[in-house]
Parts: sequence; structure tokens; C-alpha cells
Amino acid sequence: MGKRSLSIALVCLALLGSAYAEESMSMSAADKAMYDELLENNPADMELSEGESLFGALIGKAGYAKMMGVSEKALPAYIAGFPRYVDSAKKVVTLSQTIQMAAASQGKEVPKLESPEMLKMTLFLKSLANGQKTAMNVKANPQMKAMMTLGKAVFEQQRGGRGLSCNSCHSSDIIGQRLRMQILPDLGSKANASAGTWPAYRMTKSETTLLDKRFQQCMDNALLAKIPLGSKEMVALEVYVTNMTKGNAIHVPGVKR
Ligand code: HEC
Repeated sequence: MGKRSLSIALVCLALLGSAYAEESMSMSAADKAMYDELLENNPADMELSEGESLFGALIGKAGYAKMMGVSEKALPAYIAGFPRYVDSAKKVVTLSQTIQMAAASQGKEVPKLESPEMLKMTLFLKSLANGQKTAMNVKANPQMKAMMTLGKAVFEQQRGGRGLSCNSCHSSDIIGQRLRMQILPDLGSKANASAGTWPAYRMTKSETTLLDKRFQQCMDNALLAKIPLGSKEMVALEVYVTNMTKGNAIHVPGVKR
């Protein structure tokens, strides 16, 4: 290869490299390789299978379907519609909260929302909806409508020392820009599909995390007081973010940076 064509080739490679980096959420080549490897061989799969055993011992698919008043066959579509209003709970609940209800109904110890057991069981339960599309309906009833309104308020509320809100970094006019090297993600895009891809394995933390716990990690980073898991505000936030991903595919466990 002549000197000239070599330098042209190098320029092309550099251009290609930067376009590629853009697409892969500003990951380095090494990170990208690790990401691809984890997609094939997700460490969270182990937690999923542990979740299956735990869930089986707690209530099982048939018992759960009965408790929620749906047929076992309808379970995947039903699960794709969370968070949802559940009559027996008299409120809008997350999938994790229905596991707490299941434990209570069986007279068993109710697992904490923060517990590793809860993560594993929620991951298993959600995985039953893999291949479905997120199908939460914010107009289903007044309770969902109210949670959507509250969730929007929480998402946009400026808090903490720096007066930041979720919206400061995740609003439609700012997503795609960078903050300390990280691309600000569009939570509703098909690529992120946040509500459909959590629980996910986080490479940078080497751990599997629930969607609401991921919210808390952003709160930590942005110096916002952490909203407790299971609180009305936290469930509302999940409703609001889930609504952004309407119609996106569910595929858990996800892999995230
Ligand atoms: C200071 C900016 C900032 C604020 C404020 C912020 N985030 Fe984030 N958020 C980020 C960045 C940057 C990432 C991507 C980090 C990465 O790639 O590791 C992210 C990632 C996320 C993700 C994961 C996206 C995915 O791939 O599924 C979710 C969900 C999320 N944020 C929700 C929230 C919520 C809810 C709030 C408000 C409580 C919030 N964020 C506040 C910057 C912010």
C-alpha cells in the first residue's frame, strides 16, 4: 500500500471508529467487546434461574396467576402491563410489590424491596413477558391517571444542592449530549427501552439492578435525596418512565453500561 492510500485508510478508520463510538453509547472498544460478550453470556441469567426457584417455592406461576385473577396463559401479557392498578391492593403497584402480596397471601415472610431475593424473583417474573411489548395503560383508570400526573411532577421536580431534576438530563431537547463522557440516554428509545430492559446487569457496577434502583443511582449521582423504593412517588416515577417506552420490546435481563 502506498503512503497516500495508507493515510486515507487511517482517516477512514478513524471516522468509522468515531461513528461507531457514537452508536455504542460512548463505550471504548474494550467496553464494547465486554458488552457483546455479556449479551451472549449475561451474568444475570444465574440470578434469573435462582429467582425461578425462589418464586416457585413462594407461590409458583399457577398460584400467582390465580392471585392476580388471570389465566396462566394470559400471564405474559398481564406482566407486560405493569405498573398497574390492582384491586386487592387498592393502589397502583409494581411487579416487585405483587411478589410482596404473594408472600403475604401465603403467610410467608415478606421479602424487602431492597433484598437480593426480590431482585431475583422480579427478574424471573418479568422474564415471563420477554418477547411482549411494554403495554402499561395510563388511561386504564383514575388511579393510573393520577400516578402518571404525579410521576411527571416527580420527574420534573428540581431538587438537591444543584437544583437538578430527572428532566435536566433526560429531557428530549438534551438527550444525546454528553455529561462527563457519558451520553445522556433517551429513556424511551428502542435502543434503551428502559422499562423493557430492566432488571439489567450493569457492567460498571458488576451487578444486576432493578429499574427503580437504577433511578436511585441517578439520584445519588445528581445529589438528589433518594426516593424510597415502594413509595408512592417512586411507583409514580416508574409509571412515568414506563410510559415513555410504550410498545418497545421487553427483553430481560438487559445489559447496561
Ligand atoms: C446529572 C444528569 C442526570 C440526572 C439528573 C438523572 N440522570 Fe438518569 N442517567 C444519566 C446518565 C449520564 C445516564 C447513563 C449512564 C451510563 O451510560 O452509564 C443515565 C441513565 C439513566 C437510566 C438508565 C437508562 C437505560 O439504559 O435504560 C435511567 C432509567 C435513568 N437514568 C433515570 C433517571 C431518573 C428517573 C432520574 C431522576 C430521578 C435521573 N435519571 C436523573 C444522567 C442523569
